[in-house]
Amino acid sequence: MSTLIAPSLLAANFANLQHDIEMINRSEADWLHLDIMDGVYVPNISFGFPVIEAIKTLCKKPMDAHLMIIHADDYITRFQKLGINRLTVHYEACTHLHRTIQTIHQEGMKAGVALNPHTPVFLLQDIIEDIDTVLIMSVNPGFGGQTFIEHSYRKVSELKELILRKQTSTLIEVDGGVNLETGAKLIANGADVLVAGNFVFASSSPEKTIHQLKQL
Ligand code: DX5
Ligand code: ZN
Repeated sequence: MSTLIAPSLLAANFANLQHDIEMINRSEADWLHLDIMDGVYVPNISFGFPVIEAIKTLCKKPMDAHLMIIHADDYITRFQKLGINRLTVHYEACTHLHRTIQTIHQEGMKAGVALNPHTPVFLLQDIIEDIDTVLIMSVNPGFGGQTFIEHSYRKVSELKELILRKQTSTLIEVDGGVNLETGAKLIANGADVLVAGNFVFASSSPEKTIHQLKQL
């Protein structure tokens, strides 16, 4: 399987989202990554339901929502109604993670679990069979444009080992500081999906940059 590319809309031009979403539609991007922040779980607030509703009317790619919020359970059904295909919650923000995953599946969405840079991969050993995607955070969540944290390569290979040992089909997604250099090393360590915000949107030709990531 070729690597999947999920541009993060957080780095787009919010004064002209239509322009950037149409670029994503034309591009080789596989998913559109949406970062939802509540100002409580992370020290930043991004965008919420009305904006996602507008995005949905334009976006032709599957929508991959990364929830950086507390009380995710209260909002699962609303995300499903807004057309989200994959819903990722943070390990650190869910007290009853197994139940949360079950609810996401009952709503017909793929379920993902994100791990902060300080959260070890082995904590997933009793839940890995139940999840479709693990999102390894290679920066601290909350902001785009941060420096890639080097130990993320090791975490990706540990996760790959766990997935092979448990024989699950879980995808490994990596988020934060992804560019052509970090992306190539992440793929070598077992990553299946690369999220990229600033590297795509701050480039002179975002569509071409997505193509370059896709070639890795
Ligand atoms: C950070 C978000 C990321 C962010 C990545 O909390 O989860 O998706 O947009 O941005 P870059 O690629 O610029 O590090
Ligand atoms: Zn994200």
